Amino acid sequence: APRYPRYTREEVGRHRLPQDRVWVTHGTEVFDVTDFVELHPGGADKILLAAGGALEPFWALYAVHSQPHVLELLREYKVGELSPEEAPPAAAAAGDPFAGDPPRHPGLRVNSQKPFNAEPPAELLAERFLTPNELFFTRNHLPVPAVDPGSYRLRVEGPGGRALSLSLPELRSRFPKHEVTATLQCAGNRRAEMSQVRPVKGLPWDIGAISTARWGGARLRDVLLHAGFEEEREGEWHVCFEGLDADAGGAPYGASIPYGRAVSPAADVLLAYEMNGEELPRDHGFPVRVVVPGVVGARSVKWLRRVAVSPAESPSHWQQNDYKGFSPCVDWDTVDYKTAPAIQELPVQSAITHPRPGAAVPAGELTVKGYAWSGGGRPVVRVDVSLDGGRTWRVARLSGERPPPGRAWAWVLWELQAPVAAGAELE
Ligand code: HEM
Ligand code: MTE
Repeated sequence: APRYPRYTREEVGRHRLPQDRVWVTHGTEVFDVTDFVELHPGGADKILLAAGGALEPFWALYAVHSQPHVLELLREYKVGELSPEEAPPAAAAAGDPFAGDPPRHPGLRVNSQKPFNAEPPAELLAERFLTPNELFFTRNHLPVPAVDPGSYRLRVEGPGGRALSLSLPELRSRFPKHEVTATLQCAGNRRAEMSQVRPVKGLPWDIGAISTARWGGARLRDVLLHAGFEEEREGEWHVCFEGLDADAGGAPYGASIPYGRAVSPAADVLLAYEMNGEELPRDHGFPVRVVVPGVVGARSVKWLRRVAVSPAESPSHWQQNDYKGFSPCVDWDTVDYKTAPAIQELPVQSAITHPRPGAAVPAGELTVKGYAWSGGGRPVVRVDVSLDGGRTWRVARLSGERPPPGRAWAWVLWELQAPVAAGAELE
């Protein structure tokens, strides 16, 4: 067999444009597909979305590629092998707290590098019901902590229960594994569009600060009951979560949810250690994260180190002084965070993933596609689409899972075929 040169993922990542040659990886092999880009049956634009990185998450979206002739075709373009992963640089030595962050797929649309915040390309978002892990949106406030799974312990404590310190094997073996398909959405999803109406402070998310996965883990309820906490408690109680990521002053990322949601069997709150059948990726909370279905993503604390039952909400900055809603007459200089409750359930949402704004579409049959989701487990019953600015409407076809009543935690994908006249402006 021929010997191929070895390349690091970083070197592959520099080949994203035809003028730099277009490289992709599959398994541990490296391919230069520059000459195939224009020949691709799925279009040059699609293949370029994977440029510089792995093909697998994109091929997971389009099953046409799982045929032997596709791999045979790819083989002709092989130019190298991936070198065994380099050890992550020591964060302290580099003097950069983000130096230990994990590698990411270069196809993600990055809104901020440090901390890392990125979303999948809008046009791919609703191509498949479950978002591949490598393309799932990432919302980090701080550097990604490096966690040794062997010494990891999850602390559970608070008045009314006995304190627990759970290792990963204990969390996996003592509690039944429960699986939930849930969409996570950040409160800032579509902020770029909001800013077109009036400038808004924060990351300029397009429509991709939302993704869906099948999560597996222990129910928070089972862990709390195991620690002796009661199903019903008198008065106001909250369950507070702390992450292993901390700011320069040592304050961890934190958030809380009401006690009732935490213990409710119908709320499906998880201490998740699996995402789409794989171990949680580092960016999404390895080794354990909270998943609070139907609730703003900010409460689904990643890299979970502590669960505390408390008479007060989490004292964290992100519970107290962020992720709240105000009147349009309030701005950053006049806001008093104490006057509004922390956001929990989110309202209904629907976005068009195809065609993109400003796109030219050929006359004839047009396919309009998107996602729709509601917080609180409320099902999306219908998606209405107008192509003429709201004058006339058509009903889209929905696809997704059929959830139990009140537990519609995942988005639905929707699609509509409609005739388009030549030269028409669509809104
Ligand atoms: C179709 C190869 C990357 C999206 C195809 C087909 C081949 C192919 C051979 C036709 C399959 C058939 O009908 O039997 C490749 C190779 C790639 C690549 C070699 C990488 C080097 C991608 C990426 C995307 C993509 C990254 C999406 C982001 C599609 C789509 C079709 C398609 C949507 C279906 C087109 C249609 O049937 O209308 N690809 N592909 N491909 N590919 Fe790819
Ligand atoms: N948990 C910790 N420990 N640190 C964080 O920065 N970000 C929160 C939440 N949990 C965050 C966290 C926010 S605002 C969101 S929207 C979700 O994680 C995003 O989860 P994801 O990155 O897996 O998509």
